[in-house]
Amino acid sequence: MASSSCNFSTFFFFIIISIIFCSISGYSAQPPTRICPRLDCGNGIIISYPFWLQPHQLEHCGYQGHNLSCHAQIPVLNLSNDLYQVKSINYLDNSLIISHTELTETNNCPKIRHDFTLTPTNSFLFNHTSGNRLLRFFYNCTLYPPALPDIACLQSGAKRSFVFAMEAIPEFDWHGYCESTVRVSVLEKALDDKETLVSSFSKALRDGFRLTWRTPSGSCQLCQASNGFCGYSNSSSSTENFFCICPGGRHSVSCPQQGNNHAS
Ligand SMILES: *[C@@H]1O[C@H](CO)[C@@H](O)[C@H](O)[C@H]1NC(C)=O
Ligand SMILES: *[C@@H]1O[C@H](CO)[C@@H](O)[C@H](O)[C@H]1NC(C)=O
Ligand SMILES: *[C@@H]1O[C@H](CO)[C@@H](O)[C@H](O)[C@H]1NC(C)=O
Ligand SMILES: *[C@@H]1O[C@H](CO)[C@@H](O)[C@H](O)[C@H]1NC(C)=O
Ligand SMILES: *[C@@H]1O[C@H](CO)[C@@H](O)[C@H](O)[C@H]1NC(C)=O
Repeated sequence: MASSSCNFSTFFFFIIISIIFCSISGYSAQPPTRICPRLDCGNGIIISYPFWLQPHQLEHCGYQGHNLSCHAQIPVLNLSNDLYQVKSINYLDNSLIISHTELTETNNCPKIRHDFTLTPTNSFLFNHTSGNRLLRFFYNCTLYPPALPDIACLQSGAKRSFVFAMEAIPEFDWHGYCESTVRVSVLEKALDDKETLVSSFSKALRDGFRLTWRTPSGSCQLCQASNGFCGYSNSSSSTENFFCICPGGRHSVSCPQQGNNHAS
């Protein structure tokens, strides 16, 4: 009895020692992921630095503007007051694919309400010029060139709606005869077959478009290079509030290098 409980506690002792050892060695080699663990909303998309999940994580767990929240197991990003569904995040090339949240699988005939724009606040980090092409929609046109395929599901009486690749808009006074127009980014591959856009556009919209992000310059780069996390002490984007979160705590610029005794 006594000996078996002793074995039991010895076993536990080793488990605990290995857990401590693993976390310490992980700590010194990598960013402090225990402070900001990888999370997901339940659909398998890993959310980790520089993205952070509200309300579960603190803002030092990622960049300003890279805060996501979960909407029914789907991570969403708020850009310029619109919510976008995050479809994937590639931490190796700093890119993510997002789509408009109103584009559900069940809506086969979506209408995009307005252009995608980045405001000066978020264009500081996000860029959507690479990997995408632009589509242009013209909605509810009362007059249009003959023999052009229109979006059948958007017909409204005699009014027709059209979609074109931005660089292939037929010559016509679209603005004069259409009620509204929007430009939408889609992935480059969505334009492989421009002829079928009038029927394939909803899938192209659902597949989303690509954004890239860049590391804020200056202190944040130095901090990351030293295996730290960039933190901001407040929700203001002022760089004056910058600090670097290191395994051993906060530092003003970068993490002290362990085992490096070169005087320099
Ligand atoms: C991110 O934070 C900003 C500022 O607090 C907030 O307005 C926005 O809604 C948040 N985004 C998400 C997706 O929760
Ligand atoms: C998006 O963020 C803005 C502030 O940046 C906030 O006013 C707005 O309510 C947020 N929108 C949603 C849908 O969360
Ligand atoms: C966005 O990317 C384009 C092309 O890669 C580049 O010319 C432009 O300067 C970038 N904009 C920002 C704000 O980084
Ligand atoms: C076209 O106009 C009708 C009203 O005449 C409106 O109900 C419909 O939403 C409009 N369609 C588009 C695609 O803008
Ligand atoms: C952020 O700033 C506001 C006022 O500017 C202050 O009330 C708040 O305590 C600050 N929060 C943090 C986390 O520093």
